[in-house]
Amino acid sequence: MIFPANLPCRSGQIISLLLLGIVMVPVTLPAEEHPLYLNSDQPVEKRVEDLLGRMTLEEKISQIHGDSKFSTAPIPRLGVPRRWLSDGPHGVREDVGPHTWNPAGRTDDFATAMPALSALGSTWSSELAFAYGEVIGEESRARGKDIILGPIADVPRTPLSGRIYEYIGEDPFLVARLSANYVRGVQSHEVAACIKHFAANNQEVGRATINMDMDERTLREIYLPPFEAAVREAGVWAVMGAYSRFRGEYCAYNDYLINKILKGEWGFPGLVMSDWSGTHSTPDPVFGGLDLEMGTLVPGSEDAQSYNEYYLARPFLEGIRNGQYPVSILDDKVRRNLRVMFATHVFDIRERGTLNTSEHRATARRIAEEGMVLLKNDADTLPLNPSRITSLAVIGENAVRRNAAGFFGAGVKTMYEITPLEGIVQRVGSNVNVTYSTGYSEQNGGTNLIERAVTAARQADVAIVVAGFNHSRSLDDEGWDRKDLELPYGQNELIQRVIEANPRTIVVLVSGPAIDPGPWLAQVPAVLQANYSGMEGGHALARVLFGDVSPSGKLACTYPKRLIDSPPHALDTYPGTNGTLFYKEGLLVGYRWFDTKEIEPLFPFGYGLSYTRFEYSALKLIPGTNAGQSIVTAEFEIANTGRRPGAEVAQLYVHQARPGLPRPAKELKGFQKVMLKPREKQKVSIPLDQRAFAYYDPAKKGWVAEAGEFKILIGSSSRDIRLQDDFHLAATTVGK
Ligand code: BGC
Repeated sequence: MIFPANLPCRSGQIISLLLLGIVMVPVTLPAEEHPLYLNSDQPVEKRVEDLLGRMTLEEKISQIHGDSKFSTAPIPRLGVPRRWLSDGPHGVREDVGPHTWNPAGRTDDFATAMPALSALGSTWSSELAFAYGEVIGEESRARGKDIILGPIADVPRTPLSGRIYEYIGEDPFLVARLSANYVRGVQSHEVAACIKHFAANNQEVGRATINMDMDERTLREIYLPPFEAAVREAGVWAVMGAYSRFRGEYCAYNDYLINKILKGEWGFPGLVMSDWSGTHSTPDPVFGGLDLEMGTLVPGSEDAQSYNEYYLARPFLEGIRNGQYPVSILDDKVRRNLRVMFATHVFDIRERGTLNTSEHRATARRIAEEGMVLLKNDADTLPLNPSRITSLAVIGENAVRRNAAGFFGAGVKTMYEITPLEGIVQRVGSNVNVTYSTGYSEQNGGTNLIERAVTAARQADVAIVVAGFNHSRSLDDEGWDRKDLELPYGQNELIQRVIEANPRTIVVLVSGPAIDPGPWLAQVPAVLQANYSGMEGGHALARVLFGDVSPSGKLACTYPKRLIDSPPHALDTYPGTNGTLFYKEGLLVGYRWFDTKEIEPLFPFGYGLSYTRFEYSALKLIPGTNAGQSIVTAEFEIANTGRRPGAEVAQLYVHQARPGLPRPAKELKGFQKVMLKPREKQKVSIPLDQRAFAYYDPAKKGWVAEAGEFKILIGSSSRDIRLQDDFHLAATTVGK
């Protein structure tokens, strides 16, 4: 370990608990035999107050800032352990540090590399979101982490966003459902999830300082709902502020966002932390609701001494001593930190956690499989039947590149990563001759690579080009947005040449959403968006390609025909003007824009093909079920009318006929994924509550569901509506 444990332990007790598979946090008991705060039978709030009352001013200050890149200081006198934080969101990050970003060089910090959150988004599965969180939670415990820095619940507004692969998708309802379940999964293992980056952080260009200017409805309807769900529904314990500014104030200590909305309206009891180096002064964070300062770079200092110089360390302490700040404001911050400690049982007997298990890998594989989106499949090119082909040309650097490790915080040090090529080779066995050619390369592109790939494609029954991005600069990495949506390194030319050589060419995309397939889409018969699919990605890909499982992913982001069709580009509001980002498109983010403005997307939100077919029927709207919670429940049937098992994501959109304030053409308000065998039929019920009909009315400071006419639209995608019915809402209500 980087730090000495510093805490004497009662070894006999620990060993016997270890045998039970349980780890006990060793504490030095204060002189008093049984202080209340160590009694786990006592309510959390009582324990918080008891411990707070025993702390000196200096000890309190020590709990609200980092003492290494990813920890806070222990208080040995009181048995307060050092708290460990770790990135998320795709797995428990490799340890760094303590005072640099360089890897710590440990051999016990391998973890399960889950598919990227954009893959999770494409699963449209709340169940898998919970399972994802559970893996992260269990592994956090096994790695001794107390707070995991994930999930990300930001809603991207431009497809150029450098971290779009870390985002779940463009619809706040979908993001809210999945991120809340991720949080529940994590926190079921006595680890705090930290939802980030609050709020509306969705581009990398200028992220450290850019000021976001948007109207209240846009904030409330698009960017806040995922955070609100995490707080109000899932009880998330930590929130990370975004780097950027909102209406002039930094998000991490923005009085309106943090004090008024998060802690005030939503009653968030947990802690707000800064993003790394996201704190810039003392007074604003003190009053703006920041509870934990992390990652500040103190000029000229990169060692342990600097932590005392953090804005919420010595400068705050001195300010309290000289009467500039009341102690009560410090107490509130400490209380929030302690509350999270007690809630996650850091003083109690705690779950030990498991790491790198076969169950975790199976979950990773399932999410990877269910997140893959079949974008095109002319003449049933897919699935491939290995007994009907003798040779396969696998082409492209992404077929052999291990993408799970990068980029930066979102990468995971994993014991292995099955590449697409490995997955395919293992799946087809020795009866199929698989050749590999690089085709394109980040380092040394060129026509030779293309010629060799073309020759291989010509000689094979089928060619599979594994294309896409790779987390290199500006190609899905933190700190840099993409420059455009084009595939780099001459991949377009490669794909065009390969398709000329072999009409049975399949393109597999490894990327976050979206890419521009421009010149080759019309010619290529099958295209699969495979995402960054984690350590089991190659297996998952092979299972989809060879039909062991039908693809069931649906796009969680619109693919535009041209970048200029996307709202911030159409309105020329990206990447901001003189340090300000005007959210001119307002509510019209993603499909809300394309549908309302009647712009044809390349692939719409919610779109994804299957190897089987689904029929929708028998829509009924049943008033007021679900224990009085819902206004109406939409009930309908889905039947698998094809010849293979498969899963379908049924999507429910609401359209209001004559809203009091302008609304998008339709808004997602429900979805359900159903697994069906051939000829199987299932009833689907989607309850709709007040919020499903409401828009945010800034004048009323609430969610208004207006009496009047609505349409309930049930679709296989946002542009493939299969069933619809009218619904009359009898009375206007205002919700909070
Ligand atoms: C990122 C956060 C991350 C933090 C710590 C920042 O650059 O924005 O998402 O948790 O670094 O690695």
